[in-house]
Amino acid sequence: MTSIPPEQDTRFRGKHIVITGAGGNFGREGCIYFGKRGAKITALDVNKIALDETKAIVKKEIPAVQIITFVCNVTDPDSVLAAVKGADTEFGTIDMLWNNAGYQGQIAPTLEYSLTDFANVMNINVTGMFTVLQTVAKNMAAAKKSDDGHKFTIVNTASVAALRGTPAMVAYASSKAAILAMTVSTAKDLAPHGIRVNAISPALIGPGFMWDRQNQLHASSGSPYFATDPDAVAKGKINGVPMKRLGSIEEVVKSVAYLLSDDSSYTTGFNLVVDGGMSAGIR
Ligand SMILES: NC(=O)c1ccc[n+]([C@@H]2O[C@H](COP(=O)([O-])OP(=O)(O)OC[C@H]3O[C@@H](n4cnc5c(N)ncnc54)[C@H](O)[C@@H]3O)[C@@H](O)[C@H]2O)c1
Repeated sequence: MTSIPPEQDTRFRGKHIVITGAGGNFGREGCIYFGKRGAKITALDVNKIALDETKAIVKKEIPAVQIITFVCNVTDPDSVLAAVKGADTEFGTIDMLWNNAGYQGQIAPTLEYSLTDFANVMNINVTGMFTVLQTVAKNMAAAKKSDDGHKFTIVNTASVAALRGTPAMVAYASSKAAILAMTVSTAKDLAPHGIRVNAISPALIGPGFMWDRQNQLHASSGSPYFATDPDAVAKGKINGVPMKRLGSIEEVVKSVAYLLSDDSSYTTGFNLVVDGGMSAGIR
């Protein structure tokens, strides 16, 4: 089955999407995907250089795109509020949020894990994600609801690390599990406001920064679960995937698009796993 060409995909045309972590791999691909489908894009990231690069790439690929960027630290509520206000001023009420910024943290076994790093990972991945979710949800809830009451959508990026616990990544796994709990709680609280909230849990996605960084740091972590050569670590991980390959960033974005679109109009509080079957099981 082939996908319909972006210009014929009307699901996001004229809709306003906010994407966090837009300077990173997933966020950048998301800006391109939704931009090609006629969405108005507000792109946020703490890294100005990466964010500017995203804007330049998106504009080059889609000259007519409507995109605005804000340098925004998700751990700073004032910075998040300023970005959301700016987004509303530029493009009006936010229809969709891809709450995607994240940090992997240190890679070290539990006995050596730094408490400072643990707190930092939780602050970015959990408190930061909730700050963005709440601020955007207030913008959505203040707008007039559509007739069916299910106009607004949010997707939080979690990870398979939340489901099976990746060795030497206790902070990251804990933070991603918290995101799943945040997703189900907020899905219930926000349903009366016409806002659906779902999560995406990718794993073994690449090639890219996180995949390479993780393999290098797992190899040097001293954890007995990993080989000491990054290539051997990578091969071992892929071998553990039933589909025997890495997933692509585009495959992640397409799954996010499903959850953000009306195609999933009766689904909220769900976690969509994108991992080639790695964590398959009854959950
Ligand atoms: N790449 C993978 O294989 C994979 C797998 C599972 C989950 N994820 C999750 O997907 C999301 C995106 O991953 P990616 O591969 O694009 O990573 P990435 O490192 O390329 O991008 C993450 C982006 O988040 C931004 N960011 C970090 N801290 C921030 C802060 N305080 N405020 C604002 N922005 C901040 C970074 O600057 C970066 O641009 C993350 O939440 C990650 O945990 C990735």
